[in-house]
Amino acid sequence: MTTHLNVTTHSFTHCSAQALALAERVAERLRIALTERGHAVLAVSGGTTPKDFFDVLSREQLDWANVQVTLVDERWVPESDKRSNAQLVKSLLLQHAASGARFVPLYTGAPTPEAGLADVTASINALSLPFDAVVLGMGDDGHTASFFPGGDHLAEALDLNGRAPVLPMHAPDAGEPRITLSLPTLLNTRALYLLVTGVKKRDILADVRLGLGAAQNYPVQAVLTQQRVPVAVYWCP
Ligand code: 6PG
Repeated sequence: MTTHLNVTTHSFTHCSAQALALAERVAERLRIALTERGHAVLAVSGGTTPKDFFDVLSREQLDWANVQVTLVDERWVPESDKRSNAQLVKSLLLQHAASGARFVPLYTGAPTPEAGLADVTASINALSLPFDAVVLGMGDDGHTASFFPGGDHLAEALDLNGRAPVLPMHAPDAGEPRITLSLPTLLNTRALYLLVTGVKKRDILADVRLGLGAAQNYPVQAVLTQQRVPVAVYWCP
């Protein structure tokens, strides 16, 4: 059975073209928000895939002082740790034209994500949502944000009617404790993008598209099969 997905896929032969196209698209969403509302809110993933995208986006001429940038998820490590998504975003996205953007971190310095949860929830609740753009990534195990297979709060995080905007997450393959925006929070956006590279990830997306049994194991399925927000996939080899 083929699942009807509200998904459009943009495939690129070269990853530099993918990064450029997505950066232009996201910049356009931010520009529209700045013109219409005077401010914009962007949530991005960490990991390795968005590096080129961050670099291109950071050079877009925008009224960055009125753009808030946050993360879709964070590894619960200090910003000085090379695994920190905040470090990644500050070093690659909040540079050049974007150096004046306002960053809203998810890591608080508390000993655990559970201990920091109330503060992070308050930070997210203080944003003027909906997001103008959310950029997700995906792991080779089909996780997105910190929706990891086997995650201790996975069901709660994926619950479209869930009330918690932010959840801690511990999972065998997560590397460290995480904090993640919930699926309903991520879907509270005017535009949703999934930035992926490589054949393995293309095959995961194909499994979900075809409704194959393996798709049940991939948390990203919840993003791709929801009908609230169209998903634009940007893929390159
Ligand atoms: C994180 C992420 C996560 C990421 C995927 C893909 O902090 O790990 O936000 O969801 O997008 O793990 O990571 P890569 O881009 O490194 O493959």
